[in-house]
Amino acid sequence: MNEQDKLKKAVGEKAATMVKDGMKVGLGSGTTVYWMIRSLGERIQKDGLKIEGIPSSNQTAIWAEEAGIPLTDFSHVKELDITIDGADEVDANNHLIKGGGAALFREKVIAQAAKEFVIIVDQSKIVDTLGEFSLPVEVLPFSWHRTANEISKLGCVPTLRVNEEEPLVTDNGNYILDCPFKVIPFPDKLNKEIKSIVGVIETGLFIDMVTTVIVGEKDNINIK
Ligand code: 5RP
Repeated sequence: MNEQDKLKKAVGEKAATMVKDGMKVGLGSGTTVYWMIRSLGERIQKDGLKIEGIPSSNQTAIWAEEAGIPLTDFSHVKELDITIDGADEVDANNHLIKGGGAALFREKVIAQAAKEFVIIVDQSKIVDTLGEFSLPVEVLPFSWHRTANEISKLGCVPTLRVNEEEPLVTDNGNYILDCPFKVIPFPDKLNKEIKSIVGVIETGLFIDMVTTVIVGEKDNINIK
Protein backbone atom coordinates (compact mmCIF):
# COMPACT_ATOMS: atom_id res chain seq x y z
CA MET A 1 0.00 0.00 0.00
CA ASN A 2 1.42 3.43 -0.94
CA GLU A 3 1.63 6.41 1.46
CA GLN A 4 -1.53 8.06 0.13
CA ASP A 5 -3.54 4.85 0.54
CA LYS A 6 -2.26 4.52 4.12
CA LEU A 7 -3.59 8.03 4.85
CA LYS A 8 -6.94 7.19 3.24
CA LYS A 9 -7.19 4.05 5.35
CA ALA A 10 -6.29 5.94 8.54
CA VAL A 11 -8.93 8.66 8.05
CA GLY A 12 -11.53 6.10 6.96
CA GLU A 13 -10.97 4.10 10.14
CA LYS A 14 -11.01 7.27 12.27
CA ALA A 15 -14.35 8.36 10.81
CA ALA A 16 -15.86 4.92 11.40
CA THR A 17 -15.31 5.43 15.16
CA MET A 18 -17.77 8.37 15.00
CA VAL A 19 -20.60 5.98 14.09
CA LYS A 20 -22.60 4.80 17.12
CA ASP A 21 -25.18 2.09 17.74
CA GLY A 22 -28.57 2.78 16.18
CA MET A 23 -27.35 5.44 13.75
CA LYS A 24 -28.62 5.92 10.21
CA VAL A 25 -25.49 6.51 8.16
CA GLY A 26 -25.00 8.16 4.78
CA LEU A 27 -22.28 6.27 2.92
CA GLY A 28 -20.31 8.40 0.46
CA SER A 29 -18.32 7.14 -2.51
CA GLY A 30 -14.69 6.67 -3.48
CA THR A 31 -11.50 5.00 -2.42
CA THR A 32 -11.29 6.74 0.98
CA VAL A 33 -14.88 5.81 1.85
CA TYR A 34 -14.01 2.20 0.97
CA TRP A 35 -11.82 1.99 4.09
CA MET A 36 -14.53 3.53 6.26
CA ILE A 37 -17.03 0.94 5.01
CA ARG A 38 -14.61 -1.90 5.71
CA SER A 39 -14.03 -0.60 9.21
CA LEU A 40 -17.78 -0.33 9.88
CA GLY A 41 -18.16 -3.90 8.61
CA GLU A 42 -15.55 -5.09 11.11
CA ARG A 43 -17.38 -3.37 13.98
CA ILE A 44 -20.65 -5.00 12.88
CA GLN A 45 -19.02 -8.45 12.83
CA LYS A 46 -16.90 -8.09 16.00
CA ASP A 47 -18.86 -5.72 18.26
CA GLY A 48 -22.41 -6.27 17.03
CA LEU A 49 -22.72 -2.61 15.97
CA LYS A 50 -26.29 -2.00 14.77
CA ILE A 51 -26.62 0.59 12.01
CA GLU A 52 -28.38 1.15 8.70
CA GLY A 53 -26.79 2.86 5.71
CA ILE A 54 -27.94 4.74 2.63
CA PRO A 55 -25.34 4.39 -0.15
CA SER A 56 -24.53 7.24 -2.55
CA SER A 57 -23.60 5.01 -5.48
CA ASN A 58 -24.08 1.52 -6.84
CA GLN A 59 -20.41 0.77 -6.11
CA THR A 60 -20.83 1.85 -2.49
CA ALA A 61 -23.93 -0.35 -2.18
CA ILE A 62 -21.86 -3.33 -3.36
CA TRP A 63 -19.05 -2.59 -0.86
CA ALA A 64 -21.57 -2.06 1.96
CA GLU A 65 -23.31 -5.36 1.23
CA GLU A 66 -19.95 -7.16 1.15
CA ALA A 67 -19.13 -5.57 4.53
CA GLY A 68 -22.46 -6.69 6.02
CA ILE A 69 -23.93 -3.18 6.46
CA PRO A 70 -27.75 -3.32 6.26
CA LEU A 71 -29.03 -0.80 3.69
CA THR A 72 -32.16 1.32 3.69
CA ASP A 73 -33.56 4.22 1.62
CA PHE A 74 -35.41 7.51 1.91
CA SER A 75 -38.82 5.82 1.87
CA HIS A 76 -37.96 4.56 5.36
CA VAL A 77 -35.64 7.28 6.69
CA LYS A 78 -36.33 11.03 6.91
CA GLU A 79 -32.99 12.11 8.35
CA LEU A 80 -29.52 10.62 8.68
CA ASP A 81 -27.47 10.89 11.88
CA ILE A 82 -24.19 11.15 10.04
CA THR A 83 -22.86 11.10 6.48
CA ILE A 84 -19.22 10.30 5.82
CA ASP A 85 -17.73 11.01 2.41
CA GLY A 86 -14.52 11.86 0.57
CA ALA A 87 -13.79 14.97 -1.51
CA ASP A 88 -11.67 16.09 -4.44
CA GLU A 89 -10.82 19.52 -2.96
CA VAL A 90 -11.40 21.11 0.46
CA ASP A 91 -10.79 24.86 0.77
CA ALA A 92 -9.94 27.05 3.76
CA ASN A 93 -13.68 27.48 4.54
CA ASN A 94 -14.38 23.74 4.25
CA HIS A 95 -16.24 24.26 0.99
CA LEU A 96 -15.76 21.28 -1.34
CA ILE A 97 -15.45 20.10 -4.89
CA LYS A 98 -16.82 16.58 -5.22
CA GLY A 99 -17.85 14.31 -8.07
CA GLY A 100 -14.54 12.86 -9.21
CA GLY A 101 -16.29 9.50 -9.01
CA ALA A 102 -19.45 10.82 -10.75
CA ALA A 103 -21.62 10.28 -7.66
CA LEU A 104 -22.09 13.95 -6.72
CA PHE A 105 -25.90 14.11 -6.97
CA ARG A 106 -26.66 11.32 -4.50
CA GLU A 107 -23.70 12.45 -2.39
CA LYS A 108 -25.28 15.88 -2.05
CA VAL A 109 -28.63 14.33 -1.12
CA ILE A 110 -27.13 12.26 1.72
CA ALA A 111 -25.02 15.24 2.83
CA GLN A 112 -28.06 17.52 3.07
CA ALA A 113 -30.09 14.83 4.85
CA ALA A 114 -27.53 14.38 7.64
CA LYS A 115 -27.17 16.06 11.05
CA GLU A 116 -23.39 15.63 10.77
CA PHE A 117 -21.47 15.69 7.48
CA VAL A 118 -17.93 14.37 7.92
CA ILE A 119 -15.33 14.60 5.15
CA ILE A 120 -12.34 12.27 5.02
CA VAL A 121 -9.36 13.21 2.86
CA ASP A 122 -5.64 12.82 2.61
CA GLN A 123 -3.63 16.04 2.68
CA SER A 124 -3.34 16.24 -1.13
CA LYS A 125 -7.01 17.39 -1.24
CA ILE A 126 -6.46 20.52 0.88
CA VAL A 127 -6.33 23.78 -1.14
CA ASP A 128 -6.52 27.51 -0.42
CA THR A 129 -9.03 28.17 -3.21
CA LEU A 130 -11.22 25.68 -5.10
CA GLY A 131 -10.95 25.16 -8.85
CA GLU A 132 -7.69 23.46 -9.80
CA PHE A 133 -9.71 20.21 -9.91
CA SER A 134 -12.17 20.52 -12.80
CA LEU A 135 -15.66 21.03 -11.35
CA PRO A 136 -17.97 18.08 -12.15
CA VAL A 137 -21.54 19.03 -13.09
CA GLU A 138 -24.24 16.40 -13.63
CA VAL A 139 -26.45 17.26 -16.61
CA LEU A 140 -29.40 15.89 -18.53
CA PRO A 141 -28.18 13.98 -21.64
CA PHE A 142 -30.98 15.49 -23.81
CA SER A 143 -29.55 19.00 -23.65
CA TRP A 144 -25.90 18.52 -22.68
CA HIS A 145 -24.44 20.47 -25.66
CA ARG A 146 -26.58 23.48 -24.84
CA THR A 147 -25.90 23.21 -21.11
CA ALA A 148 -22.14 23.03 -21.78
CA ASN A 149 -22.40 26.13 -23.94
CA GLU A 150 -24.22 28.03 -21.19
CA ILE A 151 -21.65 26.96 -18.57
CA SER A 152 -18.82 28.07 -20.88
CA LYS A 153 -20.15 31.66 -20.61
CA LEU A 154 -19.21 31.51 -16.90
CA GLY A 155 -15.50 31.12 -17.73
CA CYS A 156 -14.43 27.60 -18.67
CA VAL A 157 -14.56 25.11 -21.52
CA PRO A 158 -16.49 22.07 -20.22
CA THR A 159 -15.69 18.60 -21.48
CA LEU A 160 -18.06 15.65 -21.50
CA ARG A 161 -16.72 12.87 -19.26
CA VAL A 162 -16.24 9.66 -21.24
CA ASN A 163 -15.63 6.04 -20.42
CA GLU A 164 -14.03 3.91 -23.15
CA GLU A 165 -14.94 6.56 -25.75
CA GLU A 166 -18.63 6.58 -24.78
CA PRO A 167 -20.23 9.26 -22.57
CA LEU A 168 -20.00 8.18 -18.94
CA VAL A 169 -23.53 7.57 -17.63
CA THR A 170 -24.10 8.25 -13.93
CA ASP A 171 -26.11 6.00 -11.61
CA ASN A 172 -29.00 8.41 -12.31
CA GLY A 173 -28.78 8.00 -16.10
CA ASN A 174 -27.20 11.43 -16.68
CA TYR A 175 -23.89 12.80 -18.04
CA ILE A 176 -21.03 14.62 -16.31
CA LEU A 177 -19.45 17.82 -17.63
CA ASP A 178 -15.98 18.50 -16.21
CA CYS A 179 -15.53 22.26 -15.93
CA PRO A 180 -11.94 23.55 -15.60
CA PHE A 181 -12.45 26.94 -13.94
CA LYS A 182 -8.87 26.81 -12.50
CA VAL A 183 -9.79 29.27 -9.72
CA ILE A 184 -13.21 29.62 -8.05
CA PRO A 185 -12.95 32.68 -5.77
CA PHE A 186 -16.73 32.83 -5.08
CA PRO A 187 -17.98 29.22 -4.98
CA ASP A 188 -21.44 30.09 -3.65
CA LYS A 189 -22.06 32.56 -6.49
CA LEU A 190 -20.79 30.14 -9.15
CA ASN A 191 -22.88 27.32 -7.70
CA LYS A 192 -26.05 29.44 -7.95
CA GLU A 193 -25.19 30.55 -11.50
CA ILE A 194 -24.62 27.01 -12.74
CA LYS A 195 -27.71 25.69 -10.93
CA SER A 196 -29.86 28.32 -12.68
CA ILE A 197 -29.10 26.76 -16.08
CA VAL A 198 -31.89 24.45 -17.23
CA GLY A 199 -30.47 20.97 -17.82
CA VAL A 200 -28.13 21.10 -14.83
CA ILE A 201 -29.06 18.37 -12.38
CA GLU A 202 -26.49 19.27 -9.70
CA THR A 203 -23.00 20.69 -9.27
CA GLY A 204 -20.04 19.26 -7.39
CA LEU A 205 -19.74 22.42 -5.27
CA PHE A 206 -20.67 21.64 -1.64
CA ILE A 207 -21.01 24.99 0.13
CA ASP A 208 -21.48 25.39 3.90
CA MET A 209 -22.47 21.75 4.34
CA VAL A 210 -19.53 20.23 6.21
CA THR A 211 -19.42 19.82 10.00
CA THR A 212 -16.01 18.08 10.33
CA VAL A 213 -13.03 17.44 8.05
CA ILE A 214 -10.62 14.64 8.96
CA VAL A 215 -7.31 15.11 7.16
CA GLY A 216 -4.68 12.40 6.91
CA GLU A 217 -1.25 14.01 7.16
CA LYS A 218 2.13 12.35 7.40
CA ASP A 219 2.34 10.96 11.00
CA ASN A 220 -0.84 12.79 12.06
CA ILE A 221 -4.61 12.95 11.72
CA ASN A 222 -5.84 16.54 11.76
CA ILE A 223 -9.48 17.28 12.60
CA LYS A 224 -10.89 20.64 11.53
C1 5RP B 1 -17.12 10.76 -5.86
C2 5RP B 1 -16.47 11.73 -4.94
C3 5RP B 1 -15.38 11.22 -4.08
O1 5RP B 1 -15.70 11.47 -2.75
C4 5RP B 1 -14.12 11.95 -4.43
O2 5RP B 1 -13.86 11.77 -5.82
C5 5RP B 1 -12.93 11.45 -3.61
O3 5RP B 1 -12.62 10.14 -3.96
P1 5RP B 1 -11.38 9.37 -3.37
O4 5RP B 1 -11.64 9.13 -1.91
O5 5RP B 1 -11.33 8.11 -4.18
O6 5RP B 1 -10.15 10.22 -3.59
O7 5RP B 1 -16.81 12.88 -4.87
O8 5RP B 1 -18.10 11.37 -6.64
